[in-house]
Amino acid sequence: MLLIKNIGMLATAKGNEPLRGAAQHNGVTIMRDCAVLLNDETIQAVYENGSAPECGNVIDAGGALVTAGLVDAHTHLIFGGWRQHEVPLKLRGAGYLEILKAGGGILNTLTATRNASEDELYDRAKKALDEMLDHGITAVEAKSGYGLDVENELKQLRVIRRLKEEGGFNVIPTFMAAHAVPPEFKGDPDGYIEFICTKILPKVADDELCEFVDVFCETGVFDVEQSRKMLTYAQVYGFKTKIHADEIDAIGGSVLAGEIGATSAEHLIAVDDAGISSMAKGGTIACLLPGTSLYLNKEFAPARKFIEAGVPVAICTDFNPGSCPSDDLQLCMNLGYLKYRMTPEEVLSAVTINAACAVGRGDILGTVEPGKQADLVIWDAEDLDYLVYRMGTNKAKKVIMKGNIVK
Ligand code: NIG
Ligand code: FE
Repeated sequence: MLLIKNIGMLATAKGNEPLRGAAQHNGVTIMRDCAVLLNDETIQAVYENGSAPECGNVIDAGGALVTAGLVDAHTHLIFGGWRQHEVPLKLRGAGYLEILKAGGGILNTLTATRNASEDELYDRAKKALDEMLDHGITAVEAKSGYGLDVENELKQLRVIRRLKEEGGFNVIPTFMAAHAVPPEFKGDPDGYIEFICTKILPKVADDELCEFVDVFCETGVFDVEQSRKMLTYAQVYGFKTKIHADEIDAIGGSVLAGEIGATSAEHLIAVDDAGISSMAKGGTIACLLPGTSLYLNKEFAPARKFIEAGVPVAICTDFNPGSCPSDDLQLCMNLGYLKYRMTPEEVLSAVTINAACAVGRGDILGTVEPGKQADLVIWDAEDLDYLVYRMGTNKAKKVIMKGNIVK
């Protein structure tokens, strides 16, 4: 047993379901003078108002704020190489899709990822996960999507498995071969989708290498019908689904997300009313990526509209070598507060329970309650307002993952 005592403020959502509408704010409970008892990997009990049992093994939180460990529900964690040389091009006005068409962007990372060994990819991803843990992020979704052929997509997914089994991280694997059309299928997105569905996906399923399947539904990448085909196949294989939708144009990706009951849709900067209402009906979570808006100098997604429409909002990094070379979810929380105009409580639900549900882990992650996994952060902060207000410093003081003190 391990007792975390002297918690000045404990801020947490309750339950296993995503918080939507007014509940995204009101569903966060603020408790004072708390203690949390951990039994190995699991939270045993939460005590309020100064009541706590005696325990030999104690961490003194020093009156600080404690929350559940943060969950980053959208990253492209496994990649070779960086793309710093593209930044001047972008600053000169070249668009994302223009760079992609010229063989840069995702295709640049494709080459570096294909050339990298499994060990190299593992070491790079582990470095990022260590950084994230140090910032209080205790669970991370990780996508493939820079291999774009049988061998290299499986290689990326095997790295994710190793990070979980060997590295001990909470990593949730997503198969995203439908991230771009590779050179082998240039000009033939239909042929490539057919190839993924019939040649890669069955192998991924055989080896149980993913939980989610994602597709980049966007002008110049995959259209709605190609995306529908990809995700329908995924569902037939029993996988849950996600969609990169309406990042640049509202071509129908968010509408599709709601129609097929996708767990989440991502980006959504250009989402229209039809997309928002389809997602509300389908119970789809909006995974918003403010770091990408910042980095690409784009608009920020209409978070308040989603909340008003009853769509649960999660905030994630989108960590990748192109559009968001940052794994700093704390910065995204600042942006959620300042740019999405979400309240500190809404931001907290967005990076804990809603993000946990976006990775299918609402039953074990995302809140500080008995029975949940013992993932907690003791913050160098006295309250939630401070947490979303201070920017550019790492505010995680102590981090506990599966009951282990990892920082
Ligand atoms: O989510 N939008 C598509 N994919 C990534 C970008 C990946 C890259 O540029 O390498 C994203 O932003
Ligand atoms: Fe992404």
